This record gives sequence, C-alpha cells and structure tokens, in this order.
Amino acid sequence: MSGAPETVELVRAGGPHVAGLMARVEERLREDAAGHGPVLADHAGDTIAAGGKRLRPLLVLLAAGEPRDHDAAETVVRSAAAVELVHSATLVHDDVLDAASLRRGRPTVVARGGRGMATAAGDLLFAQAFAELTGAPAGDRAEAVRILSDACSALARGELLQRADAWDAGIALERYLLRCELKTARLFEAACALGTQAAGEPDLGLDRFGRRIGLAFQLLDDVLDVSGPASRTGKHRGTDLLDGTVTLPFITARERDPWLAALDPRSIATPEAAEDVCERIAATGALDDARTMALALVDEARAELPERLDARRREALELVAGGVVARYA
Ligand code: IPE
Ligand code: IPE
Ligand code: MG
Ligand code: MG
Repeated sequence: MSGAPETVELVRAGGPHVAGLMARVEERLREDAAGHGPVLADHAGDTIAAGGKRLRPLLVLLAAGEPRDHDAAETVVRSAAAVELVHSATLVHDDVLDAASLRRGRPTVVARGGRGMATAAGDLLFAQAFAELTGAPAGDRAEAVRILSDACSALARGELLQRADAWDAGIALERYLLRCELKTARLFEAACALGTQAAGEPDLGLDRFGRRIGLAFQLLDDVLDVSGPASRTGKHRGTDLLDGTVTLPFITARERDPWLAALDPRSIATPEAAEDVCERIAATGALDDARTMALALVDEARAELPERLDARRREALELVAGGVVARYA
C-alpha cells in the first residue's frame, strides 16, 4: 500500500477493516498488471508498483463503510481496484498526450517504452478495470459497469477538450472548470457511487460530494504543477505550460501581470523557461487564490454529505475532503 502520509491517516480513520481491504486491493492490482505477458507486466506493473496516493480506491472503501459479509467485501475490493486501474490507465495515456516524462517519481511509460507501449499498457489497465467489476459477486453489475464507463467517457471528453483548448491563453474560467469536471471530478464521483453500490446502498447520495472534491483536487493539482517541486509531486514543474495546457493559476495571473497577459504560451520552449514563468505566476498570488477556490469547493463538498451517513464514514470522508487541499500548504 502507498505510504503517503495522507493515505496512512485515511486508512486509520476509515476503521480497522480498511487496512486489510486495501491490502487486498493492492494484491488484485498486482495480478491485473501481471497476467498478460512479460512486456505489458513490466510497463503496466511499473505504473502500479510506483504507488501513488491511492486516493480513489480509498474513497471507494470509505464510501462503502464496513462490508456486512464476504461477498460485499469482495465487491468493494474489486470496485476499488477497478477505479485505480482506470486512474492508472488514464495516467499512462495522459502522459502521452501531455508529453510528460516523469510520473510518480519515475520515467513515464511513454518515456521508457515509447508511444505504442504506453497505448497498449493503458489499454490493458482499462480492460482489466471492467473485468474486475464484472467478476464481483454482489450488487448490480450492469449498473457498476455503467457508472465506470460513464466516468471513462467523461475523461476522454475532458482530455479532448484539453487538446482542443491547447495554447489558448484566453480560455474562459467556465471552460477550464468544465474540463476539470470531465477529466477528474467524474472519476471521484464514480468512486463514491461504486462504494455505496457495493455496500448495497446505491441511493446514499455521495455523488455530489465526490464531484466537488474531485474538482478541488484538479485545481490543486494545477497549483502543484506551478509550485512544484518535482521531489514533492513526482512530476516535472511546469509540465502544463510546456504542453499548452492553460490552467487556473495562469488564467488568474494573466489578469494581474501585463507581461504574462502578453505572453504567447507557444514561446515557452524549455523546462527552464517554464520554471521562470511558474515563478512569475506564483508572484501574482494566483496560487493562493486557486487554493482558496479549492477550499470553498471542499466546504461545499462537506455540506453535501447526507444526513443519514454514520459518524465513522462522515469523519473519514471529511478527512478525505480536507486532505485534498492540505496537499498545498
Ligand atoms: C493525478 O492524480 C491526476 C489528476 C487527476 C490530477 P493523483 O495525484 O491522484 O496521482 P497518483 O495516483 O497519486 O499518482
Ligand atoms: C489529469 O490532469 C489527468 C487525468 C485525468 C488523466 P493532469 O494532466 O493535470 O494530470 P497530471 O498532472 O499529468 O497527473
Ligand atoms: Mg498530465
Ligand atoms: Mg497536472
């Protein structure tokens, strides 16, 4: 399991059963990556083994609460693995689209094995996600597949939107937020929905909570791309600027700094130039403002938690929400 401090704290808050379930999720992830030949096992397995915060599978477990029997536990574990597999698949493909060379502190699959390998490794991870869902023993499997496939479709639309808007420094805030909603928030929503569905409570209503924290999460990720450092994020600083992805800090900073307002993103040609622009964006205070916006979304998310939620799940989910913004201090 990931040793990230925020992950460890969340596992504890969820109750004594969570560590055992999370260990089972890790075991399934390893098997999913390994069972399809040594070449894919190397590339897909490396992405899985590199860890990451495991926030989405934890969200599935925390939304589900303590499973009432063996079948419910197996279904929760498989649902959590499915969500992390989709997440990992999108990261492997995203690094092709974003021309990113560092992920989870390691070279990306595309940097190590090339575009073809990254395409195939990502496809494998996507396929295994749905195999996990259909193999689960409890709940409405068709509904589970629908929930996850809706999130995957949204993700694809979000990535396309990002490419369509690339290099456009003047994009509207609403358009940026829509992109974040599609490429990130919808998978957080699906994680909550799959958790409650696996627990036999499909109508619990955590969807809006999931969407809100997912949106806050992407806002913070975009802040971290500007603030770095790579030793903390596991990704190179300024990756978004270098591939033409205009995010909230840049949108806000352009309103405050005429030099940034006049800057054509295509002229940012080297990692060093991107670092300089990052410094300039940070100097406008735009990172703190983005964080404030994310904090407001987290408050909204907390307010969306349903009344009838038991105290333990409420506490754990509130901790998840707080953790999303604590990543940037
Ligand atoms: C990165 O997600 C992709 C985004 C949606 C911002 P994470 O920051 O959760 O990545 P890992 O799983 O911890 O590596
Ligand atoms: C999220 O956006 C990517 C996906 C949802 C796959 P980013 O492109 O900002 O994610 P990172 O920064 O590469 O992890
Ligand atoms: Mg990316
Ligand atoms: Mg990013």
